[in-house]
Amino acid sequence: MKRALITGITGQDGRHLSQFLSTKGYQVFGLVRGQNNPKIEVVQAENPSIELVEGDLRDLSSLIAIVEQVQPDEVYNLGAISFVQLSFKQAELTAEITGLGVLRMLEAVRIVGGGENNPIRFYQASSSEMFGKVRETPQNENTPFHPRSPYGVAKVFGHYTTVNYREAYGIHASSGILFNHEGPKRGLEFVTRKVTNAVARIKLGLQDQISLGNLEAKRDWGYAGDYVEAMWRMLQQDEPDDYVVATGEAHSIRDLLETAFRIAGIDDWERFVVQDPRFYRPAEVDLLIGDASKAREKLGWEPRVSFEELVQMMYENDLKEESEKAAR
Ligand code: NAP
Ligand code: GDD
Repeated sequence: MKRALITGITGQDGRHLSQFLSTKGYQVFGLVRGQNNPKIEVVQAENPSIELVEGDLRDLSSLIAIVEQVQPDEVYNLGAISFVQLSFKQAELTAEITGLGVLRMLEAVRIVGGGENNPIRFYQASSSEMFGKVRETPQNENTPFHPRSPYGVAKVFGHYTTVNYREAYGIHASSGILFNHEGPKRGLEFVTRKVTNAVARIKLGLQDQISLGNLEAKRDWGYAGDYVEAMWRMLQQDEPDDYVVATGEAHSIRDLLETAFRIAGIDDWERFVVQDPRFYRPAEVDLLIGDASKAREKLGWEPRVSFEELVQMMYENDLKEESEKAAR
């Protein structure tokens, strides 16, 4: 039985990945931090077979102890401060966890896994946010980075640290440059879930309007359930490498609103939307659209869920959750 260690197990991707790996027959270990994190219960209920281990990406000794205890075949480093807006307000903490956390996790893998022939394979959750002020469209593995947020800067550090540990120590370390991926497990702070949740609440008469920032930004949105499979496929390759994972299709926040309201049967959506300067960012990423040809060719990966299907899935989940909550 293969053993996988996932950091960020309580996050959207950690929850999808743990379920995916369990169905592949893995024993899954998830790193959790702090006391009384309410998300731990959710994770355990979804996947009772996982084993949780306590540690923190800010604490190298805890990571070494965990890797020693778990003896993983594969480590998926998904833990991070992942909300771009928050990274502007807590830039140092973001650099600490999202940036230096990668170095610490790789150090734990290097130290515990030994020298040449290190048996542990490592996945780093890199991000399209690294492209920032994009130098070319669409973006691929060779597009230069120009991050526009403390989060993006920290991810660039994590990305190059992963490349460096691969080149310097021969670790099987791969970096997935994933474009935005969403789904019903997405946090409410991210724009897709904020929109589908608000539209469901407006439909149910529980909310009058939604406040948003920049409606013109465009993102390449896919489904998280599809994207975690690409992570796993990267670690099954003979050689470690970097891969862009994306749908190749971009939509604006305006398109997202129009689609979600249309699915809810509401046409005159503009009267429900207000723009609030609090949701604008000091520096914006205007357009992200990925070219995932390499992942398609080498990993045999491709997205299955379309933009319309994704918004529908999220809206229906929010409608169900919100009506159940209202009935209680
Ligand atoms: P998420 O839902 O925000 O989850 C983040 C996870 O990181 C949570 O489990 C959180 O645990 C954990 N974490 C935060 N600080 C930590 C610390 N100090 N030590 C250990 N764990 C810590 O993020 P996601 O959407 O699943 O994304 C997973 C990864 O992919 C992240 O690295 C993100 O930056 C990256 N990524 C995401 C996307 C996307 O569109 N979703 C795209 C590209 C890259 P707590 O419950 O304890 O807070
Ligand atoms: N969150 C949010 N809230 N975003 C808004 C809002 C709002 O009220 N109004 C407009 N937006 C715009 C943002 O300015 C941004 O251009 C876009 O919606 C998407 O914002 P998010 O959903 O917060 O995602 P993100 O693209 O900044 O970051 C996500 O994707 C990255 C990959 O490109 C996160 O998951 C990152 O962790 C990930 O790396």
